[in-house]
Amino acid sequence: MRYLWMAVCPALLAAGCAGAPEPPPYRAVADVKQLMNAMVDPQADEIWDKSGWIVTATGVEERRPKNDEEWIAVMHHAVAVTEAGNLLMMAPRAKDGNLWMKYAQELTDAGQKVWRAAEAKDVQQLFDTGGVLYEACLHCHGEYIDAIKNAK
Ligand code: HEC
Repeated sequence: MRYLWMAVCPALLAAGCAGAPEPPPYRAVADVKQLMNAMVDPQADEIWDKSGWIVTATGVEERRPKNDEEWIAVMHHAVAVTEAGNLLMMAPRAKDGNLWMKYAQELTDAGQKVWRAAEAKDVQQLFDTGGVLYEACLHCHGEYIDAIKNAK
């Protein structure tokens, strides 16, 4: 057994032979509120700004990406929202290991749905997945923002 380990070890050396890998040296710098204001909220707003319909004095205006550039921009906003879910799971931002993780994952899943809609350049899908994204925000806020939780 020892012999086998020694034989295998050189191949593993580059990956760290000593067993479990070191945790990545990340540093969660922003707190949840800062992450919301700097990343999650503005990126989600950009997505919602490009979908749906608004009634104006002159009629109904359809909001949608109007060219490839705008579709790509929406896709990039969705990428940011998708990965923000992972950032929210990092200690010490995560409030617990259960529901918090579930809701953070919901954000990532919703972001990815928007991302796919943008890739498909599908206006209806963008609208629908924008709604799914909105629900993901509401679910977590409903549990973790006391003023909202207590108002329920
Ligand atoms: C996994 C949980 C979670 C998800 C998902 C989430 N939020 Fe939040 N959000 C929070 C918490 C917790 C706070 C309160 C932070 C605080 O006050 O310290 C917050 C606060 C906010 C605030 C207020 C920031 C302030 O200055 O008081 C905004 C705006 C916001 N979130 C937007 C969003 C949007 C938009 C989404 C969805 C696209 C979203 N959040 C998804 C947990 C979440």
